[in-house]
Amino acid sequence: MEKIIIKGGNPLYGTIEVSGMKNSSLPILFATILVKGTCVIENLPPIDDVTAAIAILKGMGAEVRNIDDTTVEICTDNVGCGTAPYDMARHMRGSYYIAGAELGRFGRTSVPLPGGCDFGQRPIDLHIKGFEALGARVDLDSGYIRAEADGTLKGTSIYMDVVSVGATINVILAAVLAEGVTVIDNAAKEPHVVDLANFLNACGADIAGAGTDIIRIKGVSSLNGVTYAVLPDMIEAGTYMIAAAATGGRLTVSNVIPKHLESVTAKLCEMGVHVEENDSSVEVWADAPLRPVNVKTQPYPGFPTDMNPQMCVIMCLAEGNGQLREGVWDNRFRYIKELIRMGADITVEPKVAYVHGGKPLKGTSVRAVDLRAGAAMVIAGLVAEGVTEISDIYHIERGYANLVEKLCAVGADIKKTVVSDGACVTAV
Ligand code: UD1
Repeated sequence: MEKIIIKGGNPLYGTIEVSGMKNSSLPILFATILVKGTCVIENLPPIDDVTAAIAILKGMGAEVRNIDDTTVEICTDNVGCGTAPYDMARHMRGSYYIAGAELGRFGRTSVPLPGGCDFGQRPIDLHIKGFEALGARVDLDSGYIRAEADGTLKGTSIYMDVVSVGATINVILAAVLAEGVTVIDNAAKEPHVVDLANFLNACGADIAGAGTDIIRIKGVSSLNGVTYAVLPDMIEAGTYMIAAAATGGRLTVSNVIPKHLESVTAKLCEMGVHVEENDSSVEVWADAPLRPVNVKTQPYPGFPTDMNPQMCVIMCLAEGNGQLREGVWDNRFRYIKELIRMGADITVEPKVAYVHGGKPLKGTSVRAVDLRAGAAMVIAGLVAEGVTEISDIYHIERGYANLVEKLCAVGADIKKTVVSDGACVTAV
């Protein structure tokens, strides 16, 4: 078993460069199923979810060449419909984008139901509603989503009852080669949606309005290969911004789009943290006691749910009481019992955590219960007194590129170890 071991107390100084965005890399990689010819995708984060997505595409018959750590060349001309390998696809949430992409290209799909982080119920009713509105019959059968259209999919108007990143992206993928115009009302406005639309438009699609709550997709007859660079990961950036402030250091977080970070920046500033925005970087430092804040997570441009656990850690360090309300997922607070093991004083209800700040965090053994919870444990370990051992770090490696190396380079005392029967045998 691999663990991350952190000796807390070092303020972070220097520059951390942010990698490409996980949550747009996955849809962009699967969107290549819709494209004739070869795409070169640049600025992919070197994370396990990207490796898995590429392995799934290869398993479906795609020709993939790794140009370097962050760039791949992909041709999906020989991909077969319904060929996503079951065991690989069911472990990854983003694999449900194969459904929209296959429907768009073949008019039918068969994909294992998705896995991913456990935040409670993760329904796909809106994806199904979107596919049905475009003219497909959809069945959930033996752990698979299966859908088929009579003839070509036909553009239509779809109202999303809930703002859903996944459903918005899946409908875009299905509609981009459909006949006529599709309008998605109450669409997700996240930068990942914009990134996917930019990629598809570069390939010849006709998508307008991505980044607003009404997206209009005029079907085109084919898409051609392009070279495209994925946008920077706003959640990775936000995680390092909080790490800088929490440790009382000073970090330049580079390769970011500061606009994407506004909700995080606003909350950090409210706490008394300094955030200086430059064209493609932010500089973050804290030089005074942190003030308590109240936070509510919401769809973009609100405060991101994927920053909930990291924000909770810095709220624990503020002098006073704050409230953290979860506005997206039913079960996002499973990490709190791990923070309490480190000495945090938090009372939790299903949708709100009451954080009583100012109690010192102490290093101990904790679990990464999901991806962003794992990042929160890392931040907690960086500020805690003594040594923190984090297990189940495969969650962290699904989504954070070279996290240990990046933090080491700015002064953290952090390493990854391989542990056998409770004993550490190798440092890696
Ligand atoms: C994506 C992200 C995830 C992030 C989330 C919200 C990926 C791989 N994952 O997840 O990290 O936390 O966006 O920013 O990109 N819902 C329905 N019916 C549906 C679909 C969703 O009711 O058919 C609800 C969900 O229960 C949830 C809300 O909509 O309450 C948002 O979910 P959604 O935006 O779809 O999340 P994902 O795309 O799965």
